[in-house]
Amino acid sequence: MKFTFYGHSCFAIESGGKKFLFDPFITGNELTKGIVDAGSIESDYILASHGHADHVADLISIAQRTGALVIGAYEVIGWAEKNGVKNVHPINLGPAMFPFGKLHFLPAAHSSSLPDGSYGGSAGGFLLHDTEKKFYYSGDTSLSMELQLVPRYAKLDFAILPIGGNFTMDVDDAIVAAEFIKCDKVIGVHFDTFGYIKIDKELAKEKFRTAGKELILPEIGQTIEM
Ligand code: NI
Ligand code: MN
Repeated sequence: MKFTFYGHSCFAIESGGKKFLFDPFITGNELTKGIVDAGSIESDYILASHGHADHVADLISIAQRTGALVIGAYEVIGWAEKNGVKNVHPINLGPAMFPFGKLHFLPAAHSSSLPDGSYGGSAGGFLLHDTEKKFYYSGDTSLSMELQLVPRYAKLDFAILPIGGNFTMDVDDAIVAAEFIKCDKVIGVHFDTFGYIKIDKELAKEKFRTAGKELILPEIGQTIEM
């Protein structure tokens, strides 16, 4: 199973011959310039954790070009439809079934509004049950007791967690979150993109090591075999 990082909280998972693109935000991210081209990213499914622009800015264009099925909160999907996206599947917090299997949209402690200012519904995280390896992507969230639900549903191979602080968990909280979800292998996202969320990457990795866990910080554009 492959993980490709497109910067900020945007990444793709390739599993079972399908490409799942999460939280498409590329063209507004200075750090991706000259490295990632949103116009050439392929996807079968696009999953949006919530409606903030740093998670959906490239959703409409990629969805329209690729025809990917767009999955997200009911309100986020309403916004996508208003912008011309036809292939959609709205969900709310809880389980849902898809051609690729079962998915849980689990609560995130965060807000959600769309780029046009409309309400974005509940922010959430994704647990896909039937991929080659099991992973959980929390989306933007603070540390929350809700995270303790995750190991009831799955024994994770890895997790994707925000570590930049200010708008989400920071490194220290993400280490506790990793305990809550019972997962020792974490890919860190949502850091360095803006001034508020700049981190010391070496210190972050060292803190995870000290806690007996691994923090992976992929380069933008990098694909890693998980
Ligand atoms: Ni957000
Ligand atoms: Mn965000």
